[in-house]
Amino acid sequence: MQKPAKIEEAWGRKYPEQVVLAVTKAPDGRINAMAIGWVCIVSDDPPMFLLGIDDPAFTLELIRNNKEFVIAYPSKDMAEETLYFGTVHGHKEDKGAKSGLKFIPAEKVDVPLLADAVANFECKLVTEYRPGNCPLVVGEVVASHVNTDESVSRLVNCGKGYQLK
Ligand SMILES: Cc1cc2nc3c(=O)[nH]c(=O)nc-3n(C[C@H](O)[C@H](O)[C@H](O)COP(=O)(O)O)c2cc1C
Repeated sequence: MQKPAKIEEAWGRKYPEQVVLAVTKAPDGRINAMAIGWVCIVSDDPPMFLLGIDDPAFTLELIRNNKEFVIAYPSKDMAEETLYFGTVHGHKEDKGAKSGLKFIPAEKVDVPLLADAVANFECKLVTEYRPGNCPLVVGEVVASHVNTDESVSRLVNCGKGYQLK
């Protein structure tokens, strides 16, 4: 049976929701990362991701300036760091260093990979548009990497208020 519901109530049933980290680099070399739930694959030839990134995010500014970024799938043991990346803005903070996570050079972009992530995708900005109130960024994957340990599994958001497990 179905009943009419406000959109907030219906969207409240969407969990578990995937979460990724968008890794970027600031002009002074600081590594920044933000948590993103509004993400999907929108092409497989060429491979492309779409990210919904709100206007205040430092990440949006860095992607617009550098035209490149890395998408990392955080592992289950990165809940604390992902919450940090997802609740603190990077304009005045060295989020990469403060997270304590290890970053390693990428192959084709000047943005590092998250060393212990489940997988990393090096992306070049293709386009940005705004069908509603949220800027949507499309990136083409130019290189991808997987963790050699296949038992490392992805972190997901299990509910409102960021229940990361
Ligand atoms: C689990 C989770 C999912 C999130 N999903 C999004 C999202 O899809 N889009 C968005 O703009 N912000 C999202 N956020 C909030 C941003 O990660 C947050 O505003 C972050 O501090 C921005 O960092 P920055 O300013 O350093 O780029 C999410 C946060 C969490 C914890």
